[in-house]
Amino acid sequence: MTPYNPFLFSSIAIITIILTKASSDHYNLYVEVEPKCQTDSITNLDNQTALRQRSAELFPQPRLLLDCTIWSESCSAEVLNFARRPENLRWLKGIRRRIHENPELAFEEFETSQLIRDELDEMEVNYQFPMAKTGIRADIGTGGPPFVAIRADMDALPIQEAVEWEHKSKNAGKMHACGHDAHVAMLLGAAKILKSREHHLKPAEEAGNGAKQMIGDGALENVDAIFAVHVSHEHPTGTIGSRPGPLLAGCGFFRAVITRKQGGEGTTTHRSVDPVLAASAAVISLQGIVSREANPLDSQVVSVTSFNGGDNLDVIPELVILGGTFRAFSNASINQLLKRIEQVIVEQARVFRCLATVDFFEKEYTIYPPTVNNEKMYEHVRKVAVDLVGAENFRVVPPMMGAEDFSFYSEVVPAAFFYVGIKNETLGSIHSGHSPHFMIDEDVLPVGAAAHAAIAERYLNEHR
Ligand SMILES: *[C@@H]1O[C@H](CO)[C@@H](O)[C@H](O)[C@H]1NC(C)=O
Ligand SMILES: *[C@@H]1O[C@H](CO)[C@@H](O)[C@H](O)[C@H]1NC(C)=O
Ligand SMILES: *[C@@H]1O[C@H](CO)[C@@H](O)[C@H](O)[C@H]1NC(C)=O
Ligand SMILES: [Zn+2]
Repeated sequence: MTPYNPFLFSSIAIITIILTKASSDHYNLYVEVEPKCQTDSITNLDNQTALRQRSAELFPQPRLLLDCTIWSESCSAEVLNFARRPENLRWLKGIRRRIHENPELAFEEFETSQLIRDELDEMEVNYQFPMAKTGIRADIGTGGPPFVAIRADMDALPIQEAVEWEHKSKNAGKMHACGHDAHVAMLLGAAKILKSREHHLKPAEEAGNGAKQMIGDGALENVDAIFAVHVSHEHPTGTIGSRPGPLLAGCGFFRAVITRKQGGEGTTTHRSVDPVLAASAAVISLQGIVSREANPLDSQVVSVTSFNGGDNLDVIPELVILGGTFRAFSNASINQLLKRIEQVIVEQARVFRCLATVDFFEKEYTIYPPTVNNEKMYEHVRKVAVDLVGAENFRVVPPMMGAEDFSFYSEVVPAAFFYVGIKNETLGSIHSGHSPHFMIDEDVLPVGAAAHAAIAERYLNEHR
């Protein structure tokens, strides 16, 4: 990983919450909520209309008892108001600040992971651990299909925090400069919301036996849809944005070793064979791939970000190591870039009688596919967001060259990735991710938590 790269939202370590709902019977909802009120006047338990009418009579104040099987704006308001309750907002901020103070890099988030599990324990939410070393998969609901997943990343970056505030990073050289601390808080917030609404999800007779089955397999095989959010300093606090189709680029990294040794011919060290010159020519030629081979309407990037040769001013070095990143919005373009980067470096090296090998770290899965939002999942996010924050606070955003490992999920199940804004000029939360000055407007936390929760619950209600 190259976390210094300002465009990579990197983390394989994750927390995912899988929300489930038995596809049978949700009429029991009312019975479940208030068993006392299961009077003998409700005789026909199969008649949902009758039940709903009866319920309205029995519970004239529907605050806790909104039937969100058919979602209404009041359901959105209920979810958002719950998230914004002063005690919940305090709790959300507390989680985010504790994580912010103790940032841990990808695959090393041991204490972050512990904190998350402690909170899940507190909420009596079941989870599976470990996944990908520190990742967690939590389950809420019955364990029966359909399943929907919401996901947050939790890794920090190797950046020294430059923001002076009470909860500044206590780990030198590490910082939550991409808002993943907020993502975790939002997802835990969603867990709390969904847990408080579990009666909407849990038919009376079934008590989570299917969950074990699902927990048994770590993959997303049974999951019908997955959603994730990222904070964005480009949009005002609380706005939500997304787009259908390609949203974030696919990306990869390359590292080339250029040496003057001719393969198999021993150690000829003729001074006029110069890997610095060969590498320089390769860097220049690489620029031609995007400018002269790519369709200008199909955005692509090839950047050389590292170039290292010898350190003796008097000697031509034995080898030069150079490397960089490449990005594009389709598999085909990613594959084409990969092929051409290798060819250009190898062939340019050969021109100068050098030998080059190019490594794309494919075994380490550092080639991320593009993040492509499924149209229906995008539409779901848009609809939920409009109900939650109002049409005026929803934005169709342009694609950007950033990359996300969420794309691995989006290859497996229908997925949508969306943004929630954190820009507040008064507070100064205007710096881009991966900046040492990065900060968020914590008022985003309940909005993100509510968005996650409403997306998951409504998905289940509407996809049976
Ligand atoms: C369900 O209840 C409603 C309202 O009481 C009634 O009009 C309807 O006929 C009932 N349907 C069935 C199938 O019992
Ligand atoms: C990219 O390739 C993978 C694996 O072959 C496939 O699952 C995925 O749908 C492709 N993505 C796009 C955007 O074409
Ligand atoms: C920005 O933050 C300040 C201080 O918390 C708050 O009063 C203001 O309403 C916020 N503005 C926006 C656009 O959220
Ligand atoms: Zn990020």
